[in-house]
Amino acid sequence: MTVPAETLTAPNDAISLPAVLDEVVVDVPTRAPVADVPVTSSASSTTDALMYTYKRAPVEIERGEGVYLFDSEGKRYLDFVSGIAVNALGYADPELQAAMHAAVEGLVHVSNLYRTAPGERLAAMLVERSFADKVFFCNSGAEANEGAFKFARRWARDLGPAKNEIFSLRGAFHGRLFGTLAATDRRNYRIPFRPLAGGISILERDIDDIATALDAETAAALILEPVQGEGGVRVLDAGFVREVRALTKERNVALIFDEIQCGLGRTGTLFAYERFGIEPDIMTLAKPIAAGLPMGAILTTKEIASSVKPGEHGTTFGGGPFVASVALHVVERLSHPQFLAHVRENGAWFGQQLQEIAQRTGRIRAVRGVGYMWGIDIMGTAAHVVNQALEKGLLVCTAGEYTVRMLPPLVATRDELARGLALLEDVL
Ligand SMILES: Cc1ncc(COP(=O)(O)O)c(C=O)c1O
Repeated sequence: MTVPAETLTAPNDAISLPAVLDEVVVDVPTRAPVADVPVTSSASSTTDALMYTYKRAPVEIERGEGVYLFDSEGKRYLDFVSGIAVNALGYADPELQAAMHAAVEGLVHVSNLYRTAPGERLAAMLVERSFADKVFFCNSGAEANEGAFKFARRWARDLGPAKNEIFSLRGAFHGRLFGTLAATDRRNYRIPFRPLAGGISILERDIDDIATALDAETAAALILEPVQGEGGVRVLDAGFVREVRALTKERNVALIFDEIQCGLGRTGTLFAYERFGIEPDIMTLAKPIAAGLPMGAILTTKEIASSVKPGEHGTTFGGGPFVASVALHVVERLSHPQFLAHVRENGAWFGQQLQEIAQRTGRIRAVRGVGYMWGIDIMGTAAHVVNQALEKGLLVCTAGEYTVRMLPPLVATRDELARGLALLEDVL
């Protein structure tokens, strides 16, 4: 049976997130000390000098080709993580490599004190292909969202002295810096760092709750991920998103779309907002934009951009000529209508296959997603599936405790997707 991707989306409460963010409880799960993490012989070097902020898998990745990665022992992994939605073009892509080689012949960095052509061309390309009139470049997703908060507040300040509150939604992930952490709905990321930045609160994904909170006199911005990534791969309901748009317009509140994970082709349109038939006031991008080189972008309207005056925001590396030259190549490739059609068609097929696996195995409680961005709620813990898949040569990641997340490179063919699904079914 052919089912459009949207209808495969399970209700948002298929796996319940904490109903309220209880910041009083401090039972943060402790992580295993470094010594407890099994290190297989494939890890040829230890990570003693690196801070233990990531629980790395005990493999050392050495090279990649197409949709495959290879470890230091030559074992091959089909990659359904893509460097967490970064490597849209896969590995060792010859055209991308050529673009990088060409870029390295030019300038790498001169600072934003001077004009450089690649960044200006990239901004023009993004403006031409989106709702936006202006672009600010930075270096990561969290930095893009922090900047978006500043731009929204700067704009709102001119409208009223108390108009400064920022809201995000239940299940959100917007980054781990102070402002973005306050907008991120993950208790164990937040609790150790309180007090978080003030004036930022999390609302239910419920239009009545949002309507109550958004006071035109005090609310500056509302940020949402059109498809929540870390929060369990939840495609926001189109009707809900349109109601949020109408409400934010009515109350003069900036609507920020965080498309850091779901933007730039991953859902089958260049930008995820296109699927809702509305436009945000600000959009943030990062992850795939420069094929793994650090880059973030804030896209916005003339009105918001013109409220920010020289000196009020900045970043040393943002939009440098090297990274922007590479991003020009990436954005051009990801914008191609045929490429986007391939993501849409294969993505819908992938979702159907996941539904069928769910029926055959009885091990999947919900299937959610769109394009090349899927989450399955499984019986048991997601980490267990991730580890077993790794053993079998398939890389997948988690999105919460019970959700296995799949983010294949956007270049993956149907055969490659099918191979990954077969490995996944084997694991389940
Ligand atoms: C939706 C979303 N926003 C923001 C971020 C933060 O991006 P970065 O890790 O580049 O700071 C992420 C990262 O996973 C993300 O998925």
